[in-house]
This record gives sequence, C-alpha cells and structure tokens, in this order.
Amino acid sequence: MAGIDYEQKIPNNVNLSSDVRLQRALEKWQPDFHKWWMDMGPDGWQMNDVYLRTAVSTEPGGWAQFGYVKMPDYRWGIFLSEQEKDRKIGFGDHMGMPAWQEVPGEYRNILQRIIVTQADTEPASVEQQRQLAKTAPSLLDMRNLFQVNVEEGRHLWAMVYLLQAYFGRDGREQADLLLERRSGDPDKPRILDAFNQPCPDWLTFFCFTTFADRDGKYQLAALAESGFDPLSRTCKFMLTEEAHHLSVGETGVMRVLQRAAELTKQDPNGDARAQGGIDLPTLQKYVNYWFSYCLDLFGSEISSNAADYFASGLKGRYKEQELWADHVALEGSHTFKLFKDGAFVEEQVGLRNAMNELLRVEYRKDCERVVKRWNRALEESDVSFRISLPENRFHRRQGIYAGQHFDPRGEPVSAAEFERRKYEWVPSDEDRAYVGSLMKPVYEVGKMANWIAAPNRGIDGQAVEYEYVRV
Ligand SMILES: [Fe+2]
Ligand SMILES: [Fe+2]
Repeated sequence: MAGIDYEQKIPNNVNLSSDVRLQRALEKWQPDFHKWWMDMGPDGWQMNDVYLRTAVSTEPGGWAQFGYVKMPDYRWGIFLSEQEKDRKIGFGDHMGMPAWQEVPGEYRNILQRIIVTQADTEPASVEQQRQLAKTAPSLLDMRNLFQVNVEEGRHLWAMVYLLQAYFGRDGREQADLLLERRSGDPDKPRILDAFNQPCPDWLTFFCFTTFADRDGKYQLAALAESGFDPLSRTCKFMLTEEAHHLSVGETGVMRVLQRAAELTKQDPNGDARAQGGIDLPTLQKYVNYWFSYCLDLFGSEISSNAADYFASGLKGRYKEQELWADHVALEGSHTFKLFKDGAFVEEQVGLRNAMNELLRVEYRKDCERVVKRWNRALEESDVSFRISLPENRFHRRQGIYAGQHFDPRGEPVSAAEFERRKYEWVPSDEDRAYVGSLMKPVYEVGKMANWIAAPNRGIDGQAVEYEYVRV
C-alpha cells in the first residue's frame, strides 16, 4: 500500500485505477490544475531544472528521492499514509467506534467545510509567493521556494482527492473553485485573511513559512486525529512534507538575523542598515506582524464550531492520544483572560468550546522554541538584541481581543496610542520599502545576497555551492 505508483497518469497509492469514475474526475481536473500552475505558480523558471525531492513512499523516513526536475513535470499525486488496521475514533461523542471510511452523513457539511478551508490555503500560498524567485538571495533559497511551492501544489491534490472521492458533485464543484479563487483578489479572495496578504519579499517569505506553515502543521495534526480515516491518513503524510517548509522558514530567519548581527558589529554606529543589511528591530517587527496574523488562523478562542468539530470526532487536539487522558472533554474548563470595561477579568469556558485556544497554546509553545533557537544564535553572535514573541492579545483581528488595543507585552493601550506607536511594533511602509530595496537576485552558484548568511549545509548532503537551479 505504501508504494507509490508512478506509472499512472496520476501517481497514487490509493489504487486509483480500480475506481474508474474517480480516476476520470481527477483526470478531468488535472489539466485545470496544470493551467493554474502555469498561470499562478512561480512566474518564470518553469523550464529550468530544479533539484527537487519527490515522494517515493509514505513510510516515515527515506520517503524522498532527489533529482533535477522541471516544475511542470513534477509528479503531483495522491499519497495517503498506511491504513491502520481496525482504527477507532479516538475522541468526542463517538469515541471507541470504528473510524469512518465513508463520510458520516450527519457531518457531511462541516466535514466538507473543514477540508475546503484547509485546501484553500495550499494554492493560496503558491500564489502569494509567485514573484519571489525574481529576487532570490541565492539558488539554494530559490530551490527551497520551489520545493515548498510544488509541495503546496501536492497538498492541494491531497485535499482535492478527498473532495472528489467522498463528496460527489458538491466535492467536484469545490475542487474547481479551489482553482478559481485568487489570493488578494477582492472579488474572489482566498478564504483565510493571512492567505490574502502579499508576500513581496524574502523576509516575509521566511516569516510566513515559520508562522503560517506552522499553523498548517497544527491544523493538519488536529485533522490527523480525525475519525474520518481518509482525512486522517492524508494529513499524516502531508505533515512529513510540511516539516521541510517549517525548516525553510526557521533557518531563513536564522540566517537573516545572523547576518544582521554580523553587520551590526561591523558598522561603526552599530547600524546594520548602513551596511546594506536588515536590522534586528525591523526583523522583530516582521515577527510581530506575522505571528499575530497567524494567531488569527486558529479561529476564535471561544468557539461553538470548534466544540462541534471535536464532539463529532472530526478534529481533535494536538497529539490527542499522547497529551490528553480524557478524550471526551465534557468536564474541565479553560480560563481566559478577557479585557472588559477597562479591566482584565477571568472567565471559565468549557473545554470543548476552547478547542481553538488549546491548539493555539501548543502552537505558541512551538513558536517559543523556535525563537529560543534564534536567540541562541544571537547570543553566539555576541549581540545583545533578542527576538521575542508578542503576547497573544497584540494586534488581533479575530477572536476575543479583536477591536481592542494592546502593546506587544499585552498591556492595554488606547486606540489613539496604538495608532501613534503602531510602527514601533509592526513594519511601516518605509520598513517594507527598505527591505524591498534589498531584494536583488543572486543567481551565481554558491553566492548569497549581502543581507543573509549562508546556511550551515546544503540540501540532501550537497554542498552549499551546488547548482540547485540550473540557470
Ligand atoms: Fe501545505
Ligand atoms: Fe506548507
């Protein structure tokens, strides 16, 4: 089952050839996907050889094969992780019953909504990142960008498979719509706000892959717990691909701040910008902006939808089996700190209604670990600046703090003060223009742009000085 059949028009490990109807539906969607990829995927470089990895098995470890591929020839396909024998629903009201192999009728609508919402982020990020190769700081970075892009394309395939295989005509319509919405288009925007934000420069890209792809990791992990087995299996395999996106982000930011530290020390006035680099305070503002934007992706802190998803066994908590003892969650509560009439008050909310927040808590912990590693690098670079994550209340547009104003430490400020001091905390137009002005392509093998340090090592055991993209 784990072997992937590359002989077929659509590579898969779901025995697609045995289901002619589905095969036909997917083969009909395939050219539309290709057209979308050529129209909305990376602008340029489609005819160049790129050193990419392709999945060859879904077994953990050793699943990837590396080699030169032209992106339009990438073998997108449908790969689910191995089916677990006699799997049971692990949480919620149906706990202990056999996992569903078909869509449970009563949950059809919410299940479809969950899948469409996740699916929509995959092409959205490719669209957001479409222009970045034009300013790649190195060929290695350009290759990483393309790797992320083709895998987001594959994640779209994974979700479209679920829609077409299990949701009949509605599913096919939704699959088509996934290729019709456009990131940032006011008339047909992508579903989630963070996926309509522009990604005009590489600092944004690295922050995006650190924080937004990490939201993806947590959403996928929660869906990997799902009682709907095909969704669980598809998310499990997506998670192995996602790990690379997170490391592109984390090491990308790491290299920017290492270089920032170097240039800060080099400059007589300690000003990295004077040396043509990105300075650490600007980097902090990008972190503030993207971290706060991505917190919104988890949905409202107190949510009856989230309670329904959990109750129905469709979306669990992060590591539901490992981290929790009570999988029904009808007892116990989560304490929220609300800001009401000028004062903080605590409010207890039943656990099921706090599911979004519980996932956000795990996400934040993970982000804190990343920031710790960044700060260790700053310590080793012998500069005193440290990166920090803003409090969860800061700069929120959704949930219990939306419409209120807090500084990055979470202290309440008036709307006027927030407006006045905003650009101490998030990038101003000038900051963005400055970062933008540094974005000049470096296409020479092994060379790096001035504002970013070289990575410690290359890809797949290759040297940093390797022709990751044949120019
Ligand atoms: Fe993805
Ligand atoms: Fe991703």
